[in-house]
Amino acid sequence: MAKNDSSTTVDPVERLARSLRDHGVADVELAFVLGSGLGVFAEKLEKARAIPYAELDGMPRSAVPGHAGQLVVGELAGKRLVVQQGRVHLYEGWSERDVTRAIRAFAAIGVKGVVLTNAAGGINPAWKPGTLMRITDHINLQGAAPLLPRERAAGNPYDAEFGAALDKGAREARVALESGVYAGLLGPVYETPAEIRVLGWAGADAVGMSTVAEAMTARACGMKVAAISCITNLAAGITGEKLSHEEVVATGKSVATRFCKLLEKSVPHLCAALGR
Ligand code: HPA
Repeated sequence: MAKNDSSTTVDPVERLARSLRDHGVADVELAFVLGSGLGVFAEKLEKARAIPYAELDGMPRSAVPGHAGQLVVGELAGKRLVVQQGRVHLYEGWSERDVTRAIRAFAAIGVKGVVLTNAAGGINPAWKPGTLMRITDHINLQGAAPLLPRERAAGNPYDAEFGAALDKGAREARVALESGVYAGLLGPVYETPAEIRVLGWAGADAVGMSTVAEAMTARACGMKVAAISCITNLAAGITGEKLSHEEVVATGKSVATRFCKLLEKSVPHLCAALGR
């Protein structure tokens, strides 16, 4: 191995940050991470350029269907954005470092705010599949420790003012946006009905297998964090129906128009909340 081979000597976050800069990802104010079936928002960007994860040094790639596996950089409402179309998950065997690497690299290149999105099962009995929920807090049941020992980002990572920018965008877009608590589990299996009952008693409105490690890390890196769940199905045992990843992706696609409108209208408010 060559002595100065950067793949072994440079921190993977720094490698990814360098690779982003080498691909011209710079002066970006805001990042979005798009979950299963929610990738279409990237198509709304103007002057857009897609960078496959395979071209980015240190960027882990998911094998989960419904995740495109590319970054898109471009503009919306005159603001430069970077959009991550697809993420890796702990349940695929990736480590806490892997699932949070892109978040750390975004912080390293100067991104100040991130909006995380995901597909989730609905626990709140008042909601139907297709409901959009702003995450106001989470319950971390992933058994993972994404923060470094020196990092002290205790408490709720979701910024109330930054999140309120999504509420403003939703009102302007005339799209209903609920709010609630997200329970993050490891997966990959869907929960049992008994587990869903426990999560309901514990105050969870939605359940999923992503987002919490990224949210904690983004907060620890000094970014503002907001998040949206798309309730793609009612959680196990709430109806008699069997859950499937195909249903999750199909519902994600069916809410695409509302989801995109909401995010598009939110961009100026999110940037304003970042002081930009
Ligand atoms: N449970 C966990 N994760 C999910 C679900 C679910 O019901 N739906 C989409 N992601």
